[in-house]
Amino acid sequence: MTRCAAFVLFFASAIVFQPSRGVEVNVTDGQDKLCLYANLMVHFSVSYEETANKSVTTGFELSKDVTTNGSECDATSSMLKLNFGDGHSWSVNFTRNGDWYQADSITFSYNLSDSTVFPNSLSNETKSVTVKPQIANVGVDTCYSCKSKDVISTDLVNMTLSDVLIQAFVINGSKSEMISSCSADQPTTSAPPTTQATNATTDAPVTNATSTAPPPTTTPTPTLPPPTTGNYSIKSDNITCLLANFGLRIGFKQGETYQEMNLEPNATTVSGSCRVNSSELQLVTNTMTIMFTFTNDTAKFHLHALNFTTKSSSGVAFNVANSNLSLWEAALGSSYMCNKEQNYTITSLLSLYTFNLRVQPFGVSKGVFSTAYECFVDSDLSFLVPIAVGVALSFLIILVLISYLIGRRKSRTGYQSV
Ligand SMILES: *[C@@H]1O[C@H](CO)[C@@H](O)[C@H](O)[C@H]1NC(C)=O
Ligand SMILES: *[C@@H]1O[C@H](CO)[C@@H](O)[C@H](O)[C@H]1NC(C)=O
Ligand SMILES: *[C@@H]1O[C@H](CO)[C@@H](O)[C@H](O)[C@H]1NC(C)=O
Ligand SMILES: *[C@@H]1O[C@H](CO)[C@@H](O)[C@H](O)[C@H]1NC(C)=O
Ligand SMILES: *[C@@H]1O[C@H](CO)[C@@H](O)[C@H](O)[C@H]1NC(C)=O
Ligand SMILES: *[C@@H]1O[C@H](CO)[C@@H](O)[C@H](O)[C@H]1NC(C)=O
Ligand SMILES: *[C@@H]1O[C@H](CO)[C@@H](O)[C@H](O)[C@H]1NC(C)=O
Ligand SMILES: *[C@@H]1O[C@H](CO)[C@@H](O)[C@H](O)[C@H]1NC(C)=O
Ligand SMILES: *[C@@H]1O[C@H](CO)[C@@H](O)[C@H](O)[C@H]1NC(C)=O
Ligand SMILES: *[C@@H]1O[C@H](CO)[C@@H](O)[C@H](O)[C@H]1NC(C)=O
Ligand SMILES: *[C@@H]1O[C@H](CO)[C@@H](O)[C@H](O)[C@H]1NC(C)=O
Repeated sequence: MTRCAAFVLFFASAIVFQPSRGVEVNVTDGQDKLCLYANLMVHFSVSYEETANKSVTTGFELSKDVTTNGSECDATSSMLKLNFGDGHSWSVNFTRNGDWYQADSITFSYNLSDSTVFPNSLSNETKSVTVKPQIANVGVDTCYSCKSKDVISTDLVNMTLSDVLIQAFVINGSKSEMISSCSADQPTTSAPPTTQATNATTDAPVTNATSTAPPPTTTPTPTLPPPTTGNYSIKSDNITCLLANFGLRIGFKQGETYQEMNLEPNATTVSGSCRVNSSELQLVTNTMTIMFTFTNDTAKFHLHALNFTTKSSSGVAFNVANSNLSLWEAALGSSYMCNKEQNYTITSLLSLYTFNLRVQPFGVSKGVFSTAYECFVDSDLSFLVPIAVGVALSFLIILVLISYLIGRRKSRTGYQSV
């Protein structure tokens, strides 16, 4: 029985220790006591000029490698400052008013000379935008929580906040267990943030209820049939050097409209190139062009960049690219496989859905895929659990059987010796 328990425990811990997706930071005060806590995800979409009058949009996430230099905690004001990449930063100012606190501003600074994020940028300046977030009337000893996506748009930058958990004024160095959730997370909208704890009803603040958060962005349920799986390959010197099989659906947002398109393999022109350090696959149809760039990082490969261009009904080209991706990673000399439907947010304006995915951008030999590295969802834990239970049960049965047989043999020997 203890063995069985050990099995169950093993799987429980495997599930618990899945890494959190957000960026988690603890800011401490002069006495090394926690004074500000945050765990959140931010996606940035930035439009910048590549040449005069030609702007491109790029998307990237707040990276996990942040430093909190410049963050401050005071009795009535605090600042969370997250520095990342090459001179980029994202900061929020909070003020406390009695038993309540609010976020006054969010400032995002981005360094256009960082060519890994802003390739071919015309300008080399560091720009910054400041916006007023909708985080107000948060009880002082509570964490503000907002799982829903909150899109903050400005002319050149869109920031999408999600899975936000912030306590801007931590009392006595320990994070509060109480949560103030944003209205978007609550089933009934337009209600001000409520504190799920006692003593929240008294002393209502005189600040205006600013919690008119935009309704959660509803992604339309795909009504398209699953896309046909296409088999694409690139040859170099008449030898196949890149293989890619997948069904592809693209979802993109142009202005206020979101639309999805399936790639029709039989109407797609394939081109590309294979080099030592990078491989490219370009798929062109009447309506769109998609360029996949894979890189070889000596031991592994991954999808590094995706550039999508489509013609809108008005004939204007719409271009979205992200050149800071780390998708479809596998060891060189193997292939990456993901049979289950997957969706990837490439930028806030572009999503990619793949079906029956298998790619090998480097080291193809004899024109066939090498051993596959399978994505996590294909080898889902939920399918392992019944197997584990089955193994544990058969083990028990065998144990019972053995002890029964031993018992029988002993009693037999008993009889014979008489
Ligand atoms: C950019 O646009 C402005 C006006 O919109 C125009 O005066 C200028 O000549 C354009 N520059 C280039 C390089 O096309
Ligand atoms: C690009 O992505 C990598 C890995 O996800 C991350 O370490 C890096 O900081 C990102 N760069 C920026 C500027 O976000
Ligand atoms: C901006 O990026 C450039 C190139 O990556 C780097 O040399 C420079 O130090 C960065 N600026 C700041 C303020 O960090
Ligand atoms: C930015 O570009 C201008 C000219 O376009 C140049 O004079 C300046 O030195 C550059 N600054 C940096 C920090 O590279
Ligand atoms: C509340 O809003 C009104 C106008 O909408 C404004 O005059 C007033 O200053 C606001 N009060 C606070 C505390 O923000
Ligand atoms: C920000 O979002 C709006 C609305 O979705 C869109 O029209 C705009 O192009 C986006 N801007 C950037 C820089 O992504
Ligand atoms: C592509 O295949 C679909 C069926 O899979 C067919 O209906 C369509 O006519 C084909 N288009 C072309 C251009 O061959
Ligand atoms: C590939 O990258 C390695 C190290 O990153 C570099 O030494 C080599 O010159 C690159 N090769 C080519 C053909 O660019
Ligand atoms: C994406 O592709 C278009 C057309 O192929 C090109 O003009 C643009 O510069 C590319 N963008 C990036 C970021 O590579
Ligand atoms: C994207 O995938 C996640 C699970 O991986 C799923 O929960 C979500 O509904 C998917 N989104 C869309 C629009 O299909
Ligand atoms: C990957 O790059 C390394 C050098 O960076 C090179 O030695 C190796 O041959 C490359 N692998 C493939 C499969 O192209």
